[in-house]
Amino acid sequence: MFRLLASRFLLFALILIHLLTTQILAQRSKTPWQTLNGEAPLIIARGGFSGLLPDSSVDSYSFVAQTSVPDAVLWCDVQLTKDGTGICFPDVTMKYASNMERAYPNRKNSYLLNGVPTENWFTIDFTFRDLNSVFLTQGTFSRSDKFDNNQYAISTVESIATKMKPEGFWLNVQHDTFYTQHNLSMSKFLLLVSKTVMIDYLSSPEVNFFRNISGRFGKKGPKFVFRFLEKDVVEVSTNQTYGSLLRNLTFIKTFASGVLVPKSYIWPVDKSQYLLPHTSFVQDAHKAGLEVYASGFANDFDLAYNYSFDPLAEYLSFIDNGDFSVDGVLSDFPLTASSAVDCFSHLGSNATTQVDLLVISKNGASGDYPGCTDLAYSKAIKDGADVIDCSLQMSSDGVPFCSSSIDLGESMNVVQSPFRNRSSSVSEIIPSSGLYSFSLAWSEIQSLTPAITNPYTKDFTLFRNPRERSSGKLLSLSDFLNLAKNSSSLTGVLIIVEVTNFYYDYNNHFEH
Ligand SMILES: *[C@@H]1O[C@H](CO)[C@@H](O)[C@H](O)[C@H]1NC(C)=O
Ligand SMILES: *[C@@H]1O[C@H](CO)[C@@H](O)[C@H](O)[C@H]1NC(C)=O
Ligand SMILES: *[C@@H]1O[C@H](CO)[C@@H](O)[C@H](O)[C@H]1NC(C)=O
Ligand SMILES: *[C@@H]1O[C@H](CO)[C@@H](O)[C@H](O)[C@H]1NC(C)=O
Ligand SMILES: *[C@@H]1O[C@H](CO)[C@@H](O)[C@H](O)[C@H]1NC(C)=O
Ligand SMILES: *[C@@H]1O[C@H](CO)[C@@H](O)[C@H](O)[C@H]1NC(C)=O
Ligand SMILES: *[C@@H]1O[C@H](CO)[C@@H](O)[C@H](O)[C@H]1NC(C)=O
Ligand SMILES: *[C@@H]1O[C@H](CO)[C@@H](O)[C@H](O)[C@H]1NC(C)=O
Repeated sequence: MFRLLASRFLLFALILIHLLTTQILAQRSKTPWQTLNGEAPLIIARGGFSGLLPDSSVDSYSFVAQTSVPDAVLWCDVQLTKDGTGICFPDVTMKYASNMERAYPNRKNSYLLNGVPTENWFTIDFTFRDLNSVFLTQGTFSRSDKFDNNQYAISTVESIATKMKPEGFWLNVQHDTFYTQHNLSMSKFLLLVSKTVMIDYLSSPEVNFFRNISGRFGKKGPKFVFRFLEKDVVEVSTNQTYGSLLRNLTFIKTFASGVLVPKSYIWPVDKSQYLLPHTSFVQDAHKAGLEVYASGFANDFDLAYNYSFDPLAEYLSFIDNGDFSVDGVLSDFPLTASSAVDCFSHLGSNATTQVDLLVISKNGASGDYPGCTDLAYSKAIKDGADVIDCSLQMSSDGVPFCSSSIDLGESMNVVQSPFRNRSSSVSEIIPSSGLYSFSLAWSEIQSLTPAITNPYTKDFTLFRNPRERSSGKLLSLSDFLNLAKNSSSLTGVLIIVEVTNFYYDYNNHFEH
């Protein structure tokens, strides 16, 4: 059925077996957004493009304009300095996200922050002038420090607004009570700055902040958005947990037109980071007339395993899931959120036919399941691969089968197996010894459990789908071809043959 090309050490034979290709394109009409007002969800850039550049820096904000949807909203966490200047800075404490520790080593202080004694550098201990010698840095240590080179100054709210002229400007007031306790008035600052700066959204996790400020902006004031924190946290002004405030959305609606919630309010995860079914929160809040904004979106952490490390898939589950759409997402990577909204929503079954590119699997969906197993191949087909691949190996009794490596120790759980003592050393293949496929009969190989590969654990501590780390079964070449033939969405298969000479020399089974 196929022809092999032989070479001395390494050989790839590529055989495309053309299968029937019928493109069944579901007839779908364009779904309108299931947001409260029917418009596309807002992209809210937290501190600018803070996944890459220092949060709240001018470059971080301007990079949003260059890479995101044109109406992306710029989010600024407002803090007050000792002299009442409003600045954009991610937190009231300054140790992280700035070089404060080096700039003012002796000005650490201790205050009660929402009742918790906290030792840190606080914005209220510095005048805006003092902050001239402080620079913004990347506050999340797992991210690149390439831009921590003392070039990003701390900006006032006014200067960010003036320089950026954002389509939408969102101010978040995380600690109103704290500033009041220190005789600084956030409300006073906001009312003053609103004379020169257009504030489109104003959010806070404190109920009293809204009670105090509502009605004081006049008709064209900002939208008020109540920010829910984690459910067991106590809201300072009502002394109720956020979980208990959640039960009365009618009450929230008395002072806010929207809510901002951690994404787990909508798609909760279990202890091992797998998604649970979505809650009815978005529908409930929409029924109460509240817009829903979700927070906690980043490309580089906190992604449930269900998304296969694909942040786009996560956005789509919040904005285009058939049941609801949130009204906006708060993201550290607004570029990805923008592509989710602008390019990848409402594609339905057309998604895989957007570009004329061949998608070839690598050992099936080997990021989700142990490679070359029935589960990995089925997932690859379900995910829309055009071609599935088989790395061909041969058993001692001459059965061709698919496995990512000739050394079964790399793709199977062999440590506990009785065949461990059959490993051998063949320096032409790998330097150390291995349990080679040609040392075991096919029935023996089938008794082993396939293992998921985790190539990125050393540098990035990224583990793949732990629940499926030992699952599925390997397929013989003929089972593989039957599976492929059965799938009308495939256009072909790819057979990869490595180290053929070796089989010829030692086994002479290849004509099988
Ligand atoms: C899918 O593609 C077909 C054919 O190009 C088109 O008629 C249909 O509107 C598309 N569906 C969606 C949801 O875009
Ligand atoms: C705030 O002002 C009041 C009255 O002027 C004063 O008694 C109090 O000590 C001040 N508190 C702080 C933290 O400065
Ligand atoms: C609310 O406003 C009043 C009057 O301006 C002020 O006395 C009070 O401290 C404010 N409360 C808060 C929590 O800001
Ligand atoms: C807040 O609630 C807790 C328990 O419900 C209670 O013990 C505490 O006294 C309350 N604090 C205030 C300031 O009302
Ligand atoms: C919910 O809040 C509304 C408005 O403040 C109030 O009238 C109602 O009694 C509250 N319901 C409950 C169950 O607490
Ligand atoms: C997420 O993945 C787990 C494990 O495969 C599965 O049990 C769960 O149902 C998935 N969650 C959703 C919402 O699909
Ligand atoms: C390998 O171990 C099995 C039992 O685990 C034993 O029956 C067999 O003889 C051993 N083979 C060799 C080559 O040592
Ligand atoms: C082929 O597909 C059909 C229907 O999806 C299924 O019942 C059958 O088991 C499949 N056969 C193989 C060999 O996978």
